[in-house]
Amino acid sequence: MSLNVELLEQNFQKIKPHAGEFAASFYENLFAAHPQVQPLLAQTNMEKQRKLLLASLVLVVENLRKPEVLEKALKNLGAKHVGYGTIPEHYPAVV
Ligand code: HEM
Repeated sequence: MSLNVELLEQNFQKIKPHAGEFAASFYENLFAAHPQVQPLLAQTNMEKQRKLLLASLVLVVENLRKPEVLEKALKNLGAKHVGYGTIPEHYPAVV
C-alpha cells in the first residue's frame, strides 16, 4: 500500500481548524469501541492528553517526507505505549 502524502497533508490542513474537536472525538471513539482501555487513561489529564495527541499528529504529518525522523519519533511513542499498557488488540480502534 502506498501512502498518498500530498492528500494526507492537504486533509490535515483542513482538520487543523477543528483540531480540538478532532482530538476529543479520537478519545470518544476509542473509549466507545474499546471500553477496556478507559482505565489506562483514568488518571490522565485529558485536556493535556488531547494536546499531546495533536502535537504527535502534527509531528507525523510534518515529517512524512523525512522517514528517519518519523521512524525515531514513532518508535519512541510506540515504546512508551507498551509501558502504558496498550496492546495490539487496541489498534483497530485507531486505524
Ligand atoms: C491504540 C490506542 C491507544 C491507546 C490505548 C493509548 C493509550 C495511551 C495512554 C494510556 C497514555 C498515557 C497517558 C498518561 O500519561 O496518563 C498515552 C499517551 C500518549 N498517547 Fe496514546 N494511546 C493510543 C493511541 C495513540 C495514537 C494513535 C497516538 C498518536 C499517534 C497517541 C499519542 C499519544 C501521546 C503523544 C501520548 C503522550 C506520550 C508522552 O508521555 O509523552 N496514542 N496513550
